Amino acid sequence: MKKTGFIGYGSMGSMLINGFLKSGVLEAEETAISNRTMTKIENLVPEWKGITITTDNRIVARESDLLFVCVRPLDVLHVLDEIKDDLTSSTHLVSIAGCVTISDIESRFPGQVTKVIPSITSEVREGIALVCHNSKVTKDRMEYLEKLLGAISRVVHVRENDFEVAADFTSCAPGMIAAIFDCFVQAGLKHSEIKSDVAQRLVISTLLGTAKLMTEKGIGFSELIRRVATKGGITEEGVKVLNNHLPSAFDEVFFKTLSKHEIVKEMIKSQRIMVL
Ligand SMILES: NC(=O)c1ccc[n+]([C@@H]2O[C@H](COP(=O)([O-])OP(=O)(O)OC[C@H]3O[C@@H](n4cnc5c(N)ncnc54)[C@H](OP(=O)(O)O)[C@@H]3O)[C@@H](O)[C@H]2O)c1
Repeated sequence: MKKTGFIGYGSMGSMLINGFLKSGVLEAEETAISNRTMTKIENLVPEWKGITITTDNRIVARESDLLFVCVRPLDVLHVLDEIKDDLTSSTHLVSIAGCVTISDIESRFPGQVTKVIPSITSEVREGIALVCHNSKVTKDRMEYLEKLLGAISRVVHVRENDFEVAADFTSCAPGMIAAIFDCFVQAGLKHSEIKSDVAQRLVISTLLGTAKLMTEKGIGFSELIRRVATKGGITEEGVKVLNNHLPSAFDEVFFKTLSKHEIVKEMIKSQRIMVL
């Protein structure tokens, strides 16, 4: 029996693996994991009987027909160089690395390749998985992969050219949302004796409620602002300040994140022509 394999058990690899196993969409006996550091994966064995764990990426590559590469972007081509002789035409390779293009992967493995950008929020089954397949991925392989991803997230197809901005909106956004609302809370606390953890809980609850309200009632951002920031009211004052300052801040956010994408992509491009 061919397995579903994972190389890299860090923040994202562990989220995917545990999400698939816990949701029951993947069985332990059909799962193989390799990670550079063994101690990180050892405790999976007592919990998931029959799971394969190793530090040898080539074993996982050989045993898997679906193989997730979950290492950092600059490590992806190194790993592909190590395992490329173990991949076959029936291997379906999935890269979850931002900045690594499908053509970067194809420079080492000219077979079935899918780029997926998951989001940490899939840990609570509320994430988006951005997906783009190359032309070689068969219908069966697409369906199987999307069944796995669909068990923990909502699968959204995007053109590869749109990945960077889409990834800012989904996989980077939890970090940015946390940064934005941390500033919101810290500023409020300067004018009150509310404890920091209480303030954080108030805001998180409101974020959840806002997302739920907008989703369940199909309300867009402008409509919600109109409903809350009534003319001459308190919220309107705050929204005016945000409208003055945030557009330029977010222009800079996208300028910086997209520039960083380009820098890393260039570094990966230079790895493509190097013998690693
Ligand atoms: N974090 C996110 O929210 C997020 C979202 C979307 C996409 N991604 C993408 O997901 C990928 C992984 O990110 P991450 O946040 O999970 O990184 P991470 O926490 O640093 O995990 C990377 C893992 O890869 C392992 N590793 C490194 N080199 C290896 C090798 N040669 N062979 C086997 N294992 C190796 C590391 O092992 P050790 O235990 O030895 O360190 C570590 O467990 C990145 O490409 C990133 O772009 C991340």
